[in-house]
Amino acid sequence: MVFPKISEAAGPKALSATSHSRQLAELAARHAVAEEGGGEERRARERTAGKLSARERIDLLLDEGTFEETDKFVTHRATDFGMDAQRVPGDGFITGYGRVQGRVVFCFAQDFTVFGGSLSEANAAKIVKIMDMAMRVGAPIVGLNDSGGARIQEGVVSLAGYTDIFLRNTLASGVVPQISAILGPCAGGAVYSPAITDFTLMTEKTSYMFVTGPDVIKTVTHEDVTKDELGGAATHNEISGVAHFMAHDDQECLAMVRELLSFLPSNNLDDPPRRPTQDDPARADLSLDTIIPIESNRPYDMVDVITRIVDQDDTGAGYLFQVQENFARNIVVGFARMAGRPVGIVANQPAFLAGVLDINASIKAARFVRFCDAFNIPLITFEDVPGFMPGIQQEHGGIIRHGAKLLYAFAEATVPKLTVITRKAYGGAYCVMSSKHLRTDLNLAWPTAEIAVMGPEGAVNIVYKRELETTLRRAEAIMPQGVSLSEEQKLEILTEARAEKVEEFRERFANPYVAAERGYIDAVIRPSETRRRLNSALDMLATKREKNPAKKHGNIPL
Ligand code: HXC
Repeated sequence: MVFPKISEAAGPKALSATSHSRQLAELAARHAVAEEGGGEERRARERTAGKLSARERIDLLLDEGTFEETDKFVTHRATDFGMDAQRVPGDGFITGYGRVQGRVVFCFAQDFTVFGGSLSEANAAKIVKIMDMAMRVGAPIVGLNDSGGARIQEGVVSLAGYTDIFLRNTLASGVVPQISAILGPCAGGAVYSPAITDFTLMTEKTSYMFVTGPDVIKTVTHEDVTKDELGGAATHNEISGVAHFMAHDDQECLAMVRELLSFLPSNNLDDPPRRPTQDDPARADLSLDTIIPIESNRPYDMVDVITRIVDQDDTGAGYLFQVQENFARNIVVGFARMAGRPVGIVANQPAFLAGVLDINASIKAARFVRFCDAFNIPLITFEDVPGFMPGIQQEHGGIIRHGAKLLYAFAEATVPKLTVITRKAYGGAYCVMSSKHLRTDLNLAWPTAEIAVMGPEGAVNIVYKRELETTLRRAEAIMPQGVSLSEEQKLEILTEARAEKVEEFRERFANPYVAAERGYIDAVIRPSETRRRLNSALDMLATKREKNPAKKHGNIPL
């Protein structure tokens, strides 16, 4: 690897100047060499692949002209494999701080043109330095990852550097928001830093993450797979749930990071930033009064409900910034604003698998709830859930353990919690989805709510099993001797008897009023009043103080 030298960049003119100007020229020359990175040829290769340079990325991430670089002249100290002749100031990592929407953010960007953005002892120390500083001042950390992993020439020293970062990721978790953008390779143990951070974004076609790559997989398991299939943006956004956002390219990805930061406080002692809005906090949307289909099994899109309630953006449309939009689509999580305040939305999605809670949905929502709770972001839950997903695969996959995560997350959350039951709230899922019993501050239900142990059909099959059998026996008993009921007749009798019971059960239980009589629902409201009710509750809860018992930490079922 051949990199430009400082003396070449400074040129003979700079070297022969007077002493002050010579010093300034040398400084400028050193900057120029550091900014050159791995050189134009390697940069051109990256451009052809559709990638921006590390510096361009930082410029797009931060408010214009706010970047202050640190450790620009750090070099590695390795000497093996001829490394002493290959030193680039900065060592392929750009670190520092700047502002996003006026607030301080620390960041680092790996420069793939220098040793493939690989992690050395020296550049790991640069990251550690800004992470420690971010913790001292209470500001988010954004990592722009694009790296061939541990610097092979440095061996275990590089692994130590990684582990120093993992430790800090863990200690910073829940103290300052941490965001990882994957804009190139991220393989081997390197994936564990993004995995510990709060949000991971990936770019289509140019990024991938895996613990072991296709070649190793081929050798060990004889499976054939491409890098993209194994660990591309679509794979991690749709199948594994490792990533939270997918962007077409670097530009879109960095815009998404800025958008995400706009909802977050700088640290766990701060409130999330409130933004002025023209949207009336009491705006009534009459279309909500009829948005839920009368037939209780008809799907509808919960996002349509949410966007009619939350603050509208400049285009006049309600704005929900979904997290993990393409993973476990039976649950919707994301950020929105209510009267300018950031809120975390958790909502069952009846348009996908009827909004059932399964393993992936439970994990997705639990992690989001815990993030919001750690960073003082109030939670609003929209509920329409037929229950937990039945099936051998789910049971053997550990739905008990994973479903418990969501229960645990809602139970331990002490931020303002509001729930709106739009339709079904059945069984264990009723308990889990931020029910009154989990210290939810305000539980609202629409008149279309059905709150019960299970749906009327299932309930009747169990509760009235014997009675239905008796009905059939009685019908058989009055048949003339020697004549028995045909299968169709039996079915007809049973269907009629069951329908009667289902209706009776629906009348009695599949409504919001039984729960309201107990006080499990604080108010049954017109759907069109939802925005006003939620906003007035958020105002009322602005001073909420609630603490969990002192402990080292809980033991969430992992
Ligand atoms: C040093 C590296 C490097 C590395 C790449 N380079 N990875 N140098 N250490 N880990 C250098 C190359 O020598 C090359 O230098 C330049 O970066 C670009 O690499 P290419 O291979 O030409 O690029 P490309 O074809 O795009 O392939 C990218 C790649 C490949 C798939 C990332 O470089 C690769 O497989 N790298 C090794 C990946 C790896 O096994 N890393 C260690 C994983 S273990 P020149 O001078 O030619 O430009 C690990 C453990 C972490 O990371 C554990 C943490 C606990």
